[in-house]
Amino acid sequence: MPPLFRPLTAADLDAMVAVEQAAHASPWSRTLLADSFGERYFTGSFWQGEQLLGYFIADRILDESTLMNICVAPSWQGRGLGRQLLEQYLRLCRERGLARLWLEVRASNAPALALYRACGYVECGRRRDYYQTAGGREDAVLMQK
Ligand SMILES: CC(C)(COP(=O)(O)OP(=O)(O)OC[C@H]1O[C@@H](n2cnc3c(N)ncnc32)[C@H](O)[C@@H]1OP(=O)(O)O)[C@@H](O)C(=O)NCCC(=O)NCCS
Repeated sequence: MPPLFRPLTAADLDAMVAVEQAAHASPWSRTLLADSFGERYFTGSFWQGEQLLGYFIADRILDESTLMNICVAPSWQGRGLGRQLLEQYLRLCRERGLARLWLEVRASNAPALALYRACGYVECGRRRDYYQTAGGREDAVLMQK
């Protein structure tokens, strides 16, 4: 069966924490993830049965949206799900009239940068030394679509 797409709910928090911690080198905290269900945010996720495969979290303000988090469980990466998640996000933005789209990504995150470029995002700036790394700091790449 193909994975099922649906919005996240607060009942999904345990599954989100597990995927978040497995997928990201610097995962969001449980508290930060729990704050993603406010009025200002919208989400999407893929499931196979009870298993959460990946999700995104975005905000919206007027006609703008920022993609704040997108991740796929490591065992599901490289199989097209990240692209499908991003395409679902872009579809929801179109349906909601969100015309200016933003995101930030670590300069070293080659898979994410390639995905965003492939879906039409372009680099529009950098925050120098914005993120902490194991060995020091790295830039945030600001992207716009
Ligand atoms: C970024 C991420 C969401 C991509 O999800 P995914 O399911 O692995 O990606 P897909 O299989 O859909 O691949 C889509 C595109 O991403 C890029 N990509 C994916 N893996 C890549 C890799 N290892 N190296 C380079 N590019 C890669 C390619 O452009 C690919 O398109 P292609 O298959 O036509 O070449 C996933 O790697 C992830 O969860 N990473 C950890 C969390 C993270 O860094 N999130 C983004 C910052 S918040």
